[in-house]
Amino acid sequence: MALRKILVLNGPNLNLLGTRQPEIYGHDTLDDIAARLTAQGEALGLAVECRQTNHEGVLVDWLHQAKREGVHAVLLNAGAYTHTSIALLDAILATELKVIEVHLSDPETREPFRHLSYVGMAAIDCVKGLGAKSYEVALERAAAL
Ligand code: DQA
Repeated sequence: MALRKILVLNGPNLNLLGTRQPEIYGHDTLDDIAARLTAQGEALGLAVECRQTNHEGVLVDWLHQAKREGVHAVLLNAGAYTHTSIALLDAILATELKVIEVHLSDPETREPFRHLSYVGMAAIDCVKGLGAKSYEVALERAAAL
């Protein structure tokens, strides 16, 4: 039987993890995180694919593609688009994908402009504030869906 696929989508500036404000986001690079998630996925019987883009429309396209391909669940750290993108909210609603919102930091304890999450209006779950571990907890939850 084919492994269930989990797509891990990362939005703007997350390619800079490791050097980007490490006091907030930690020292792990996105490659470090992806390597751990791939290994964790293998142990859980999941095929994990990690992607990153700085472009909002690319995230929308990837969600549409995930729907067509029958992806089991999506872990989505949309970065700042979390707080601005009605297009991403609409894409999650339109595809009816099981999306788990992920953040390294806890946006609700930061500046007020980070308190609103459009992604959170359609996501089925949210893991935040655990640093890179947020992704690992989210993957465990995706495996249980
Ligand atoms: C983030 C939180 C967002 O507010 C911010 O714009 C990011 C990263 C996080 O993972 O903590 O780019 O999504």
